[in-house]
Order: sequence, then C-alpha cells, then structure tokens
Amino acid sequence: MAKKLLGKKTGGEKIKAKRPVRADWKDGVKKKQVGVSDMTMLTKITNEAINENLQKRWQNAEIYTYIGHVLISVNPFRDLGIYTEDVLQSYKGKNLLEMPPHVFAIAESSYHHMNSYKENQCIIISGESGAGKTEAAKRIMQYIAAVSGDGHNSSIKEIKEMVLATNPLLESFGCAKTLRNDNSSRHGKYLEIQFNTQGEPVGAVITNYLLEKNRVVGQIENERNFHIFYQLTKAAPAEYRETYGLQGPESFLYTSKSNCLDVPGINDAQDFQETLNAMGIIGLQKHEQDEIFKTLAIILWLGNVVFVEDDTGNAAISDTDVANFIAYLMEVDGEILCKALTNRVMETQRGGRRGSVYEVPLNVIQATSVRDALSKSMYERLFEWIVTRVNVSLQARSAHQYTIGVLDIYGFEIFDENSFEQLCINYVNEKLQQIFIELTLKAEQEEYVREQIEWTPIKFFNNKVVCDLIEEKRPPGLFAALNDACATAHADSGAADNSFVQRLGFLSSNPHFESRGSKFLIRHYAGEVLYNVEGMTDKNKDSLLKDLLNLASGSQNQFIANTLFPERVDPNSKKRPPTAGDKIKLSCNTLVTKLMQCHPSYIRTIKSNDNRSPSEFDEKRVQHQVQYLGLCENIRVRRAGFAYRTTFDKFVERFYLLCPQTGYAGEYIWNGSSNTGALEILKHNNIPQEEWQMGTSKVFIRHPETIFALETLRDKYWHNMATRIQRAWRAYVRHKIECAKKIQRFWRQNKYNIGYLQMRDYGTQILAGQKERRRYSLVSMRRFTGDYLDVKAGSGLASMIRNAISLKGGENVIFSMRGNTLVPRAMRSSVPSPRTLVLTNQNLHIIVTTKQGKALSMVDEKIISLNVISGISVSTLQDDWVILHIDNSADGDAILSCTFKTEMLAHMLQQTGGRIKVSIAPQIQYKKKGGKSVTMKFIKDETAKHDGVYKSHVVKICSGAPAGSQSNPPCAVKARPTQNSTRKAPAPRKTNNARSAPRPAPNARSVPAAAPAANNTRSVPVVNNIRPVSTSIGRSVPPPPPPPAPIATPPPATPTLPQYKAIYPFQSQEAGEIQFEKGDILEIEQKDENGWWLARKDGIEGWVPSNYLEEYVPPVVVATPPPPPPPARRPAPSIPVAPQSSTPQSSSVPAWKAELEARKAGIIPNNGAVSSSSPVPVARRGPPAPGQKPVVPAKPVVPAKPMVPSRPGVGAPKPAPRAPPRAGGDTSNAAASLADALRARRNQASHHDDDDDEW
Ligand SMILES: Nc1ncnc2c1ncn2[C@@H]1O[C@H](COP(=O)(O)OP(=O)(O)OP(=O)(O)O)[C@@H](O)[C@H]1O
Ligand SMILES: [Mg+2]
Repeated sequence: MAKKLLGKKTGGEKIKAKRPVRADWKDGVKKKQVGVSDMTMLTKITNEAINENLQKRWQNAEIYTYIGHVLISVNPFRDLGIYTEDVLQSYKGKNLLEMPPHVFAIAESSYHHMNSYKENQCIIISGESGAGKTEAAKRIMQYIAAVSGDGHNSSIKEIKEMVLATNPLLESFGCAKTLRNDNSSRHGKYLEIQFNTQGEPVGAVITNYLLEKNRVVGQIENERNFHIFYQLTKAAPAEYRETYGLQGPESFLYTSKSNCLDVPGINDAQDFQETLNAMGIIGLQKHEQDEIFKTLAIILWLGNVVFVEDDTGNAAISDTDVANFIAYLMEVDGEILCKALTNRVMETQRGGRRGSVYEVPLNVIQATSVRDALSKSMYERLFEWIVTRVNVSLQARSAHQYTIGVLDIYGFEIFDENSFEQLCINYVNEKLQQIFIELTLKAEQEEYVREQIEWTPIKFFNNKVVCDLIEEKRPPGLFAALNDACATAHADSGAADNSFVQRLGFLSSNPHFESRGSKFLIRHYAGEVLYNVEGMTDKNKDSLLKDLLNLASGSQNQFIANTLFPERVDPNSKKRPPTAGDKIKLSCNTLVTKLMQCHPSYIRTIKSNDNRSPSEFDEKRVQHQVQYLGLCENIRVRRAGFAYRTTFDKFVERFYLLCPQTGYAGEYIWNGSSNTGALEILKHNNIPQEEWQMGTSKVFIRHPETIFALETLRDKYWHNMATRIQRAWRAYVRHKIECAKKIQRFWRQNKYNIGYLQMRDYGTQILAGQKERRRYSLVSMRRFTGDYLDVKAGSGLASMIRNAISLKGGENVIFSMRGNTLVPRAMRSSVPSPRTLVLTNQNLHIIVTTKQGKALSMVDEKIISLNVISGISVSTLQDDWVILHIDNSADGDAILSCTFKTEMLAHMLQQTGGRIKVSIAPQIQYKKKGGKSVTMKFIKDETAKHDGVYKSHVVKICSGAPAGSQSNPPCAVKARPTQNSTRKAPAPRKTNNARSAPRPAPNARSVPAAAPAANNTRSVPVVNNIRPVSTSIGRSVPPPPPPPAPIATPPPATPTLPQYKAIYPFQSQEAGEIQFEKGDILEIEQKDENGWWLARKDGIEGWVPSNYLEEYVPPVVVATPPPPPPPARRPAPSIPVAPQSSTPQSSSVPAWKAELEARKAGIIPNNGAVSSSSPVPVARRGPPAPGQKPVVPAKPVVPAKPMVPSRPGVGAPKPAPRAPPRAGGDTSNAAASLADALRARRNQASHHDDDDDEW
C-alpha cells in the first residue's frame, strides 16, 4: 500500500520522505502486537478466525481491534491501566492508524471529523448487557472533555465538568445490579455534546429512553433495585434519616426482597457522596435535592405498606402508621391515601354517556398492584424530571454549531422469563443493528451502485424483517397488536392478554416469529427470545389510575402535585393516551432519524464471559456475539469497499491547496467543475489510480492511509504558510525599525545643521549672481557655523580673544575668524595685516595680536558698532575684500579681507535686519581717515595668484568662477552599510581615483573651458596639489613622464595612494568606518571636505577622521637605494618653505599652533600677505550694474535669526568629523586651524609685497 501511494513523482516522494505513508504505530509501541489490529487484514474471514484473533488479543490484554473504522471492544473485566492521562494525551491529534486501536482513537476521530469536515457526529455503542457500553461511553466523554477547549474559559470548563458529572448521577438513578452486570444501565441514554465553531463544548442534551421502572417494586433473586435506594438508605445524613424516616435497606421491602443488599466492588456510601457531589456540580439546589430524597423515601415507605384481607376479603392496610407517615411525606390526607390504595372508583357508562360513580374495594393483590403502580410512576417521573433538570443546567451557553452524540443504551437481554421490558429493550437493539446494517452494509453497497462504482454485492442478514415484526402498523406488528388488545379489553388485564394472544396468530407467517400459547418467540438478530404474554397489555397501557393521579395532584407538596404529576384528570376526555409501546416506538424512530443525519462511528462491545471473569474467554459466547453482530459481513464489505467518500465539493474544499491549479490562484484560473478539481488534486499528488474512484457525485478513497496522507500534506501546507507569514512579519518589523533608525539619524543630523544651512542660503542670496565665485568654495556647500574661533566657549586662544574684547551684557558672539585689515604705514602705502575679527550681535571687534617679549597679547583695536555701518561694499571679482561704510567716522571706513566674507556679510545683515545696504561693484569708493574719498579698484589679472595682490588701492586678482556658479551639493554622507550587510571592503577603486559616482567631480562644472591649466591649480586645495592623482583636477594635469628605465634591482613597490600615519588611536563607532591604532599607516583613497577621508587599511576600505592622521613619507631604504620614484607619485611636502608646516610629521602639535610657532620663528610672514609675481595686465571691463540687494530671508520658523546651534556634542548629535582628542580639548584650536590652513594653502605660492601705496 505504501508503495502504491508513493506514486512515481515528487508528490508521492514527498509523502515518503517526510512521514511513512502508512503510519506504523507499531514503531511507537514497544509491546508486541498479537493477532491483527484491523481484522480487514485477516487472511480468512470466518467467525472462527475473528473469534481466534479477538481471543489472542484479549489474552494479551489488547481488548480493542478494528474493522476499518469500527471498533470492536471485548470486556476485560479488569483494570488494564489504559485510560490514564498519558495514554489519553498520546491519542490527541493522531489518526486511527497512528496509534493502537483504542476507544480514545474513536473519540479523537469523531472530534477531528467534526472540526475538520463540519459534520455532526454520533458514536453508536452497542452490545450485550455487561459488554462494556457504559464504560466506553464514559471514556469517550473523558477524552472529549480533556481535548476540547483551552481550559481557561470558565463556562466551557463548567460544561465539561457537568457533562462528566451526569455519569455518576444518572448511573445512581438509572443503573442497577443485575445478574449480568453489576452496573447495568436500566434505561437508554443519548448524550449530545454541543460545540461551538472552535470545537469547544458549550452545552449538552440528554435524551432518556424507557427506564425499567418495574425494578423499583421488585427484582429477581440476587438483583438489586436502582443504586440510589441503597446509597440513600445506607448513607443518608441524619437530617434525612429523621425527617424522612430513612433506615437501612434491609428495612424496606423494595430493597430487601431480592436478598441482595451489597455488591462486591460497589461502595454505596461512597457512591452516595459522589451522587451528592454530582448534584452540586450540575446545580441542583438543596431544596431540589431534598425533594428528590423525599420522593425516594415515599417510594421506599410505599413498599412497606402491607395489605391484609379484612373480614370481607378486601384489602386493608396492616399498619396504618406507615400509611400515615407516607401521607405526611406526600402532604396528602391519610384517609384519602388509604382509600386510593384500597379502593377503586368506577364509573358506569351507558351508551357512551357517563353514568353513576361508585367505589369498588380492592383485594390484596389488586391493592398491592395499585401501590406498586404509584411507586413506579413516582420513580419514573422523578427520573425524567432529573434528566430534564440536568438538561436545563446543560443548556448551551452560546450558539452551537456541531454535536457529538454518544449512544449508550441497555444491551440486548435474554432472561428465563422475558416480558414487555425485554421486548422494548431488544426492539431498540434491533433498531440500532438496523442502523448499523443500513449504514455499513446496505446503504454503502447501494451507494456504490448509485455512484456507478464497480462493485460485487455482498450478502448479509438484514434485520429489518424483525423490526417490522415488532413495529409495523400494517400488517399490524406486535406493538399494534398490543394496542388493539388494550383498546378492546381495557378493563380486565387478563382478558386483554388473551385478546393479544389471539392477535398474535396474524404474525405466524413471519419466519422470525413463533406463537407458543401464552408465550411467543422472536428470532432476534442476537438470538431467540421467548416472551411471556402475561401482564404485557397492562404494561403497554401504562396508564396511571385516576385515583392515584387525583391523590398526587391533591398533594400540598408542590414538587409532587405540580412537578411530578402536572397532568389533571379530564373526566370527559375520550382520547386514548399513548401506550408504552407507542412511546418507545416514537422515541426510537426519532433517535434513528437523528443518528442517520450524523456521521457515525461504531463501537461494538463484546462480552468475554458471563462470570465477570478477567481470565475466562468464553469462545462460544463470543462467537455467538461475533455472529449476530455481523462482523464477518462487516469485514467483507469493508475489504471490498472504500474507506472514505465525500462529495466532490467537499473534497476540493478540503484539499484544494494541495494542487497549484486549484490552490489560491484556482479562484481565478480554475475553470473546471469540482469533479475535475478533485481529479486534478488526486493526480497532482500522485495518488495511484487503484486507490480512488470517481462516482457520479463523490470521490471514493479505498484505504484510510491515503486520506491520512492527504491530511498530513494539508497540515504541512498550513504549517509552512504560517511559518512564511511569521518570517515575513519579522522581516517587516526589522525593516521598520531600521527605517525608523535611519529617519532618526537623518533628522538628528538635519536638526543640528538646519540653522547653519539657512544662514548659508541667506548668505548665498546676498551676493547671488553678482560676484565671481572662488572655485574652492564651489567644491561643496558649506554650513555657516559662524564662531570659527570658538570665542563663545573655547579655552586657550579663544579665551584670550574673549578677554580682549570684554563683551558687554547681552552681547553675543555671532561670527569669529582670522582676517586682514589695511594698515597704513608712514609715507608708504598701506599693507594688509592680520587681525582677528569677532562679530557680535552689537559690534564688530577688530583685534590685533602683538608680541610682548615672549608672550602674545591681544588688543581690541577697533570696535565698530553695527548701528553705524551704513553700507557694505564688495567687488564683483572673486577677492575677499569687504569695505564697511561707517557713518561720520573720523577713522574713515573699515577695509577688511576675510576668507568667509559672504558669511560675515550674512551675519551682519542678519543682525541688522537687512538694514545695511550691500553694494557690489568693480570699483568701490570709500572714505579714508579724515574723510578723504578714495576709490578702490579691482582688476582682473590672470597672473595674480590666489587671493590676489593689493597695491595702492588696486586689487589684482585672477578670474573666478562665473558669478552665477552654484556650489556643489554638500559632501556625500559616508556610506552606511545596512545592518545586515557585513563590513567588507568596497569594490577596488579605479587607478585614476576618481570620486565615487554619486559625488560630482569637483571643479568640473566651474572651470571655464578656456581657463589655463595653471590657474586651475590655484583654486585646488593644497591636499589636491600634493596628491594630484586623488582628485579629478589631477586629470587636467599632464601625465607624469614615464619612469626611468628600471635598473638591475627593481625598486620596492611604491604605494599608489598617499599614505598617512595615525597620530591618535581611533575606535570606530559606526559601520563603514575603520578603526586604527596610533602609528598605523593608512592609504588615503579620497579626501572629503567634511573631514572624513576614505582610507584603506589592511585591504579594508572605510572612512577615517582626517585630523587623526598626518602625512607619512615612507623611509628610504639605504642599503640599495631605489631609483627615484616617478615625480607624480612622490609625496610632496605641503608647504615647501616651511619644513615645520601645519602638518608636522610624527607630531601631535595642532596645525594652528605649528603655524603660530612658524610665524614666531619668522618662517611665515605675520601679515600673511601675498605678492604677485610678474602681474599680467588684464583688459579692463566696464563696471557691472550694482547687484540687487538680496532679500532678507524669511525668518526661520522658530527663532527670528538662524538659530545658533548648540555646540557640537552639547545637547545635539556630534557633528562629523569628530574632533580628535587633544590635551585640554581646545576646540577653538581646531577651528582656527581650518581658516589658517585655508590661508596657508593660498599663501604658499604668493609673494610678499612691499608696495609704496600710501594709506
Ligand atoms: N474497558 C473496560 N475495562 C475494564 N472493565 C470494563 C471495561 N468495560 C467494561 N468493564 C467492566 O464491565 C462492567 C460492565 O460494563 P458496562 O456497565 O459498561 O456494561 P454495559 O454494556 O453498559 O451493560 P448494560 O447493557 O447492562 O448497561 C463494568 O462495570 C466494568 O466492571
Ligand atoms: Mg450500561
């Protein structure tokens, strides 16, 4: 089979690979199996072979065996320890083949079927009395309660407890010890558990069938009354003993007559407590319990009413005290009770009209019969009320969708003397057998024919003929005959019985019936039973005497008068009340209809012996049962038939996911019918052809293994889908977090920069399109951070400046930088001289630094209030000169040069609210000291280097970038690898070291096509000059000459990239950076303005802070001097004239300090003036129209002026690059070095000019 299922292709192999197609539960069970666990696999199908297999297994303590999905259970009469919690859990979620046969497997199968296929279920348990039906039913309830619901919902828990509690309660009232069974069910019970859509029990309903009420008034020798009587009489609490006069069972005739008060193995006292407990769980109130026990006491005492013959031969109550006590309990008049028990009210009828009413005294036998009738009726009504009351408690708490019904009915009975009760019991068993036959044998075979499945019919005994014999109306069956007899001879029971015997003659043609005088024989499916006619009509009539009904309804006790006996005598009613036969027939047919609407599971119980012996296997008894249960036919039909069938629709609905054509896309792409859909699923999963057949409306699957394999595939599909969804969800959450982090990072950066950027935009607008631009400033947009010398908070030089300017209250530093001013010289022309410029919100401070001995001192040389500045003039060329026009100043206007002039201008305008007029012109008129007006001219001279040359009111400067040039966008932020990516070196860069793609090539746009190459070098930062290969500008430089021809010893490999040495250790904190130790040598691939350089170390590429590095010249190998490296590749000194340049080798001295010291030593001239070597005259151009005054930008949203951001690292994210750790943490030094470095770069090629211009 397994091979068959595996099929040829992947689908089948999948099944094989993941799980054996035919689940072999033997693997999981150590105990060796005996016989065959599924009798469809028996080699010989005979009653003997079945018997032998069952015996072998039973002797090996394996009481359960399957025939397909029918469970055969053979009573072991001992505790096998097979119903423990562990065993129960081991069956949870398993299919029938995965585990050894068990009643739990049937329960699981039903529960699974209900949940999966959305069908009501019923479990029909049949078998002889004592075969184990009630035990099986209890185990099913135990299993369902354990596996359904999550145990947290209190109402579901309550329902489960109540359902389980119905067992001890109904067993106490409905079971009794019989000769066959110590706990024989004396009524039938169908328990339907109701489930919601989640498969949780929400309610239950119990239907009760025909209680054997005769047992109340008498039992045959060695049998007992219902358990509750012994429980109550033995264990009633003192309260009941006193109030209800309860004594031991020996004191009451109804419990003692059969001489069996105790049963080995039954502890009545303990059971009584369980009954009380169950009553509590079910919710029976104390007053209700009292009424129940009071009714039982009345019945017990009624049994003790003994009649004697009085003088007239009529019945008289021997002990009126007993009668009076009963009257007290019943809350009726004592006399009326006595009368009702000893007399009968008769009414004459004349011509159908009511005649006179008179009392007829009863004889002893008749009185006893009346007494017993009252007792039986009371008990029956009490039992029915209990069931009704239990149903009230079990009412569904919420809407229920599906049900699982468990039928536990009294078993087939054959006694020496069989009466009406046995007829009813056996009739119900016949009906159940009929259902079994209908569904497993007949209907199944008929279905094959209907569905046009290839099928060879199998013969079996259909017991319908016996059912018809008992229940048919026409020709009248036994119940109809009984009813007729009762109707015609209603007054005299003997006459009625005779009438019945006569009517039996009509049935003699039925081969399953034989009339034998006052007895008759029925050949039931389970055996022949001889029934005694005597008393049958009376029992069938089942009418309570009007006298008794009147007695009960006259009771002051509401429970008796209204609850137990609610009906009232209607003297005019002619309607014949339904007989017992009518009732059992009706309820039995209702049950059959209900069962036929459910998906059935069968448990067929077999009694191993009649002696309750755990060791005796009575072969004859068992074989007899095997025969009448029709197990042989069952196996034959099963073997030839199909284990599973369902409609095409349902099949596709359940398994559509197992085939891509019908799967999720199937809704759109599948155009076929459900028939072809089902076929597609079977074929796609490589289910072998012989495993299935397609009917006209259903799919038939031959073996259960196939359907289990499909179920397994389906489970796996869902499991995989769930995993996929979980995975996608986790990825989504991770992505969301990463995005949030990115946004946060960006925002922090933006928040920090926004004020600076707004300031920059404002500054750009002031001069936009009117003044030539420096190429250097086009390299990238720069933030206008203002206080470059960190005057506000810095220490060292910054604090010296602070001391020099001694800020007034409310005066805040806005901008600070080094610059120049024109210094007049006696009899000679003015020269630019370095100054420190500090702009506050009120003044511009011009500070001069002087040397007094070895100490530096700073003096606030000039304070210009912003209020007195009426205008600012700048040229149209790229120079840095700024002329501040000052109202009524004896000193004249101020002439300054400042590298960041645009920014200074922007701050001034910002501080004065745009009041100051800005003029941009090629010639600027200004006032000298004393008020003399002079004109400063700005002339283009392409030979003038860098900042140009000032001499005698003329500034010569080479062409800058066009006025309308736009700065390149800000430097690209360092690439941040995503969280998932590992840090790996970026792809190797090209040898020309062009900037990475997103970064625009510097100068590429701004360099005029015709500009000479020499001029280009002017605006290139020094670093680029040193390493022309590292910038795009280097491409316009002619390639270096080829290296000289190699000599014998090849030179050591010269690094292709500039090398830098770490002067501080750097601990990388972010992805994309590389960390290094002090002294490490790094190759620099790319230099960014923002201070971060792209470096390579040990083959790993990443970003490093430039101010942690210093240039490194590899030592020359002395032993064998290498040939000189190609000039272009040789590292060039940054400042040729100053060996102790701003980047001293292997020194931790900051740049600004180095420069200062160089100046002190006289290496760099203090004025930083530049001279032009052989200036070339430039054609003069007409002065351009004065530029439009820039619009003062709208004030930023929050503060009016661009907000000066908090200092880096204080309350804001640190800016990049991070300042290297310096002793004292002097940030002003770093800031100062920026401007100094810029100037130094520009000055390095310039000459000092000693012009004789007068000032
Ligand atoms: N599976 C079992 N394991 C152990 N003992 C069992 C098992 N089934 C039945 N018995 C024993 O057999 C006795 C009779 O079983 P049970 O009451 O279930 O029979 P029944 O078929 O309901 O009979 P009846 O038709 O008379 O009600 C039980 O009281 C119990 O002692
Ligand atoms: Mg039972």
